[in-house]
Amino acid sequence: MKAHLSADIKLMAWYPLGHGDKSLIEQPIFGELAKKYGKTNAQIILRWHIQSGNIIIPGSKNPDHIRDNFDIFDFSLTDEDMSEIAKVDKGVRYYTATSEIIASYAKMELQPDL
Ligand SMILES: NC(=O)c1ccc[n+]([C@@H]2O[C@H](COP(=O)([O-])OP(=O)(O)OC[C@H]3O[C@@H](n4cnc5c(N)ncnc54)[C@H](OP(=O)(O)O)[C@@H]3O)[C@@H](O)[C@H]2O)c1
Repeated sequence: MKAHLSADIKLMAWYPLGHGDKSLIEQPIFGELAKKYGKTNAQIILRWHIQSGNIIIPGSKNPDHIRDNFDIFDFSLTDEDMSEIAKVDKGVRYYTATSEIIASYAKMELQPDL
């Protein structure tokens, strides 16, 4: 799963906040780090994505959240913080594509006039 690295292809996090899943956003480690850095839990998650090399386009209809979601470039998580966050991974997927859907993505074309 790391073949993309040698081709300088970046991964985009699909549903970077797990659709706003509270059981994810309210994991204790995010609350602890939010307190440590004076940020929100969601900002900690988004910063983790950035430091993991993921491209993120979080969805939000809330202007305060949209502002917060840009305000993640004035602090850094330590290696220890990153390791603690890695422990949250329980293998839960928020998106699963069938092989037919994946094949359809490969056929997508850009529409330059749009
Ligand atoms: N390319 C495609 O065709 C395509 C199609 C579908 C999905 N996607 C992927 O899905 C992404 C967005 O999907 P999504 O919106 O369902 O998932 P998401 O970004 O993981 O989560 C959005 C949810 O998180 C909440 N949220 C956002 N910022 C927050 C904050 N700072 N604090 C607390 N809650 C916050 C939002 O609520 P509020 O509105 O209340 O802030 C919303 O309920 C896209 O950007 C893309 O990555 C792509």
